[in-house]
Amino acid sequence: MIIRPIDASDFIAAQKLLDDTFMSEGHTPAQHRSHLMDVAGRSLAPHTWTLVAADDRGLLGHVVMCRPPSPLVHLADRDDAEIRLLAIAPNARRCGIATALMTACLDRARHAGCHRAVLATQAPMLAAQLLYTRLGFQRVPGCDQLWEGRQLLAYEFAL
Ligand SMILES: CC(C)(COP(=O)(O)OP(=O)(O)OC[C@H]1O[C@@H](n2cnc3c(N)ncnc32)[C@H](O)[C@@H]1OP(=O)(O)O)[C@@H](O)C(=O)NCCC(=O)NCCS
Repeated sequence: MIIRPIDASDFIAAQKLLDDTFMSEGHTPAQHRSHLMDVAGRSLAPHTWTLVAADDRGLLGHVVMCRPPSPLVHLADRDDAEIRLLAIAPNARRCGIATALMTACLDRARHAGCHRAVLATQAPMLAAQLLYTRLGFQRVPGCDQLWEGRQLLAYEFAL
């Protein structure tokens, strides 16, 4: 398995992966589907990087890292990196792929001079919460938000 920046030949597979995770598993309301599917737009957005995990089975994982003033930023302050849209193909989970993608994001953020990585996860995303805690992220309850009536739990990681 390799972790690499997304390229245009990945866009359709990345859309399918996001559809199979965020849409099919009920994490994204239908009215946000077109935004979720805008893989190409995110690949052109300033201060925004999409990484994918792939092997000979195809695209297995996806994550976005962004920094202010990226339009993808929700939580990050000036010296932060924000991690978004982590998704692993349902048939490739519990193999360490999310851990590898998150580690790659944290390495990039560190090299970019960021002091902190931040992210938010939905309250029912228990697997993700276990993953972030195991990686060393800490909860920041003061930054929790509501999105479309869903509770978003904020986390941070000191780099
Ligand atoms: C959450 C998610 C990204 C985890 O991906 P993954 O590649 O399976 O995670 P890893 O294999 O790197 O797991 C690392 C550790 O996280 C924890 N973990 C991950 N999934 C878990 C689960 N279903 N149940 C319990 N612990 C889990 C475990 O500690 C695991 O280590 P272990 O397998 O040695 O016990 C994946 O389940 C997913 O895409 N879920 C749907 C989308 C989502 O919730 N995204 C997060 C957005 S904030």
